[in-house]
Amino acid sequence: MATKDTKKRDTFGSRFGVLVTMAGSAVGLGNLWRFPYLVGEYGGAAFILIYILCLLLLSMPVFLAEFIIGRRSGANAFRAYKKLAPGTRWSWAGALTVFIPLLITSYYCVVGGWSVNYFAESITFGFSRMATTGELSDFFNSSITAVWAPLVGHFIFLLVTAIVVAKGVKGGIENFSKLMMPLLFIIIIGIAVYGMTLEGSAAGVEYLLKPDFSKINISVVAAAMGQAFFTLSLGCGTIITYASYVKKSDSMLASSLGTSVSDFFFAIIAGFAIMPAVFAFGLNPGAGPGLIFDTLPHIFAQMPGGDLVAILFFFALLIAALTSSISMFEVGVAYLVEEKKMSRIKASVLLFAILWPLGILCSLSFGPLSDFKIFGNTIFDCFDKLSANILMPFGGLLVALFVGWYMKKSDVYDELTNCGTDRAGKLLFRTVYFLLRYVAPPAIVAIFITNLFL
Ligand code: PHE
Repeated sequence: MATKDTKKRDTFGSRFGVLVTMAGSAVGLGNLWRFPYLVGEYGGAAFILIYILCLLLLSMPVFLAEFIIGRRSGANAFRAYKKLAPGTRWSWAGALTVFIPLLITSYYCVVGGWSVNYFAESITFGFSRMATTGELSDFFNSSITAVWAPLVGHFIFLLVTAIVVAKGVKGGIENFSKLMMPLLFIIIIGIAVYGMTLEGSAAGVEYLLKPDFSKINISVVAAAMGQAFFTLSLGCGTIITYASYVKKSDSMLASSLGTSVSDFFFAIIAGFAIMPAVFAFGLNPGAGPGLIFDTLPHIFAQMPGGDLVAILFFFALLIAALTSSISMFEVGVAYLVEEKKMSRIKASVLLFAILWPLGILCSLSFGPLSDFKIFGNTIFDCFDKLSANILMPFGGLLVALFVGWYMKKSDVYDELTNCGTDRAGKLLFRTVYFLLRYVAPPAIVAIFITNLFL
């Protein structure tokens, strides 16, 4: 067997593998949990329109920029900057990039843990049972604020994440995504189609499709931009790391477009899976973060066949969350394997040991630690706001500046067009380069400032 030092770096096995793995990172709680409640809170179709603009002008160019850094360097997120900008301060950007996913994974896995528990509840038909005994209204609160149940869910979720990553890029991550992602799409499309057949669902469809421009204001724009970032897993090394496993011969543009488009459609379909049903049962679409955990179980308990829909929905949620947390976990493992020369298994165990206590703190911040506040925020909120609102946009800004202003234009061109052989890459190069230089950086600074001061 090859030694650790001479061992060849892993690569993804096929183009389909690249697509499902990247889409696996992008499609997650951001699509099924965050997007629907943001749409509900920020007024439906008008929010969706702004979100589409942000995706096109901001997130997609930054996604391509991360792809360029990752594939060109062929290294983990830390080394990527060092390799492309040797002897400069850019190595700090690499260090930050490896640190950010640690924060995100800590709280993300807590919500992942809730989905484990909700899935477990659904397979025992718990929601319809609780609806008849009148316990359903308390379930959301008790399953989140309790001490043990969320901790057990969190432990299971983090453990599965670590096991899949420990099994390797191709053998673990790619295979898992190849199996799960198509299933995920089929389930969510099925639920959306079913939701739209419910009586009274038309109001929900209209809500998603008919923009009310009077609802647009600066906080809607800031939320849409933040979400466009979060949903494509930007600014935190995941796309850099995954791209480093993509073969030089694969079309970067095809994989990036495939990922962004599937992520976008998944979010929209998730909206259609949820909103028509919410309207059909006369519930409030603006319920905030509790929308899928608090509101939906009430709907499942009442709709015909709701027990089965609940199982499928929470299974989908679980898979979506897992493939995303796997991608964040891989950033740290790739760093430990390549920089600290650890085996994948050792690196996964170490990362698990770091993330587990951090997740426990985030989870307890809904219950026993809810009075412990840092600048007025619970630990969970602190991790969430610090990473999603500040560090991820900052990481994305660094990526845009690095590729748009630091890297040689000809290198960027070579990478984006596969050395001038990719026709679509050639066609889009000028637009992408312009967006990276002149549009993304000021727009990201704008999100940054609005998020800080709003
Ligand atoms: N994109 C993921 C989602 O939508 C979240 C994520 C953020 C994943 C950052 C990896 C890195 O749920």
